[in-house]
Amino acid sequence: MTGTVHKGVVATNLVQAYSSGRRLWGKADQFRAVDRVNLTIAEGETLGIVGESGSGKSTLGRMIAGIEAPTSGTVSFWGEHYARVGTPQWRRQRRHVQVVFQNPAAVVDPRWSIHAQVREALTTHEALDLSEADDRTQAMLAMVGLGSMGKRLPHQLSGGQLQRAVIARALVLNPRLVVCDEAVSALDVSVQAQIINLLLNLRQQFNLSLMFISHDLSVVRHISHRVGVMHAGELLEIGDSSTLFDNPQHDYTRRLLAAIPADSPRQRRQRDINAFGGRSAVPAPRQLPVQS
Ligand SMILES: Nc1ncnc2c1ncn2[C@@H]1O[C@H](COP(=O)(O)OP(=O)(O)O)[C@@H](O)[C@H]1O
Ligand SMILES: [Mg+2]
Repeated sequence: MTGTVHKGVVATNLVQAYSSGRRLWGKADQFRAVDRVNLTIAEGETLGIVGESGSGKSTLGRMIAGIEAPTSGTVSFWGEHYARVGTPQWRRQRRHVQVVFQNPAAVVDPRWSIHAQVREALTTHEALDLSEADDRTQAMLAMVGLGSMGKRLPHQLSGGQLQRAVIARALVLNPRLVVCDEAVSALDVSVQAQIINLLLNLRQQFNLSLMFISHDLSVVRHISHRVGVMHAGELLEIGDSSTLFDNPQHDYTRRLLAAIPADSPRQRRQRDINAFGGRSAVPAPRQLPVQS
């Protein structure tokens, strides 16, 4: 089975069991953060993964990215299994699959310029002379809209710009698959849309496969060809994005969908306000100064 799809990812019966920390009858109690998940991601395809917090999305993403070995089951990555975590072969495989997380500030070095960090990612994996590395870095930064900002340090960038820098650092390696785990969740709604559009452009230019994990269904719907719904470690349903959103098979999916705010301008503004943590360019009535 696993050998049939070479271009893309095939996950078969993936299980990740963690110890719950409790002991039952002297045996460590195990629970399955991910339970018998089967999925595929084709070349150039975006698979969205939705589900509530704690449903196993990130754990699934780490196994698909090869960062964490499954307890059981297999991941075939372009026809190859991931080598054991930490081995030289595993490190060679790393460049083909990149991960973008929620908080870009946590994954950059505060002392290095954006240019230096993107270039470093490149020279770690390829023996290049410095001028070629600089050229490719500059081209990549331009592609994510940071062409004039390479000299800046991370703290001199906004959250959205910093996420662009992290995306540049991931894509300069020309990966096959990028796993985005809540990659836009910390950004305000207008910046989210910019980053999503950037990812859509890059997906096309690089023929990227994307695994796009988010608890925000409206974001996932916009970017995904297919969507999978996680609940308590299981993949409840998976299917074509429009089919799943228009005609969900599972009761749980219907309840999840019912929680999406409708897209009226007023509700969008309210989401904006929520994303800003209560502050907004458009003040809500209750935020207007009280006349006395
Ligand atoms: N390294 C770990 N050790 C033990 N439990 C974990 C670990 N990582 C995640 N979990 C647990 O696995 C479940 C799924 O977590 P996670 O994959 O982070 O879900 P999600 O990303 O959907 O919020 C949660 O109950 C979480 O507490
Ligand atoms: Mg998560």
